[in-house]
Amino acid sequence: MILSKIKEKSELYFTEIQEIRHHIHAHPELSFHEVNTAAFIADKLKTWGIKYQAGIAGTGIIAIIEGREPGKRCIALRADMDALPIEEKNEITYKSQNKGVMHACGHDVHTSCLLGAAHILNDLRDEFTGSVKLIFQPGEEMHPGGASLMIAAGVLENPRPDSIFALHVYPALPAGTVGFRPGKYMASADEIYITIEGKGGHAALPHQSVDTIAVAAFLITGLQQVVSRKANPLIPSVLTFGKIQGGFTTNVIPEKVEIQGTFRTMDEKWRKEAHQWIKDFTLSTCAAYGAQVTIEIPEGYPCVYNDPELTGKAIEWANAFAGSANVHALDMRMTGEDFSFYTHHIPGCFFRLGTNRDNKEFLAPVHNAHFDIDESALKTGMGMMAWCALNALKS
Ligand code: NI
Repeated sequence: MILSKIKEKSELYFTEIQEIRHHIHAHPELSFHEVNTAAFIADKLKTWGIKYQAGIAGTGIIAIIEGREPGKRCIALRADMDALPIEEKNEITYKSQNKGVMHACGHDVHTSCLLGAAHILNDLRDEFTGSVKLIFQPGEEMHPGGASLMIAAGVLENPRPDSIFALHVYPALPAGTVGFRPGKYMASADEIYITIEGKGGHAALPHQSVDTIAVAAFLITGLQQVVSRKANPLIPSVLTFGKIQGGFTTNVIPEKVEIQGTFRTMDEKWRKEAHQWIKDFTLSTCAAYGAQVTIEIPEGYPCVYNDPELTGKAIEWANAFAGSANVHALDMRMTGEDFSFYTHHIPGCFFRLGTNRDNKEFLAPVHNAHFDIDESALKTGMGMMAWCALNALKS
């Protein structure tokens, strides 16, 4: 009964939500600068008569839709609003008008789906018990993550949600489908910054210098032991150095080499142990060569933990919504996502929204200049968010 109403409304509001998405897509803003996007969202909420509060952690917005007995239970739905520093290469009517900035990770889709769910839930507010909290957050793509700032600003209090849901576009699956993984789903992601310093000198007189290039080479190779020898083989871990910079020419030993990388894993205890091992190994290796070193591993995002019970229920709800043939099981992945912060405070479920067309079109991956979606996915996205909220309120 309520499911058919949600589906009818997803069809009814499709054109409106599609236009909203086109507007947000054409006007992308970088992390923590989502000023116009937030104003646009606030304007829609106001038009629909939904109470909201803007300016949370900068550009964040929270809104509340109250059903009957609003104090009884509360479910949160979250979307991220920021875009990436990528020049869009799609030739579409709603192409990015902000040079060098693009919604290449689909956060325009997430925001549009949440607005769609808000519109639907607001219509149905006499038909559910409890309240739904909508969280539009800034800066998912940038350290320290808008989610951590929103939590610090109190979005998980007054009222405290019983659980939280979010979706993310997924070009590997077709529109009309969704994907889930209970338990650990996405990795913690921490950045590593190492600067090695030594005495520079003539390449032909290495005994009079400290060869920072040789130290860096040994260090990069040696640090891989954290994955191959230190990590429990049953815990996924990855260490990648994406930047190494030092030196100028063939015959000079440089004074300084900088190395930057990322460490990712799926276990919070091991994550801390690994950081310590990486630091200790770096300090002792450089000391053995007589080089000075500084190493910093600023804390990034924790791993996304999908509450198994909540996610198990969500899979059942998705089966009812989309048909079990359209509900897929997902593998773990080593990419990061700041929704993880919420999942370490309250039970959370982060699921994937299929966005390609029949596995033939819209296959460009996220963070790619050609990324776009089959927009029929907006119906599934807004409907699923509303449907999950109403089911979770009852369970
Ligand atoms: Ni994203």
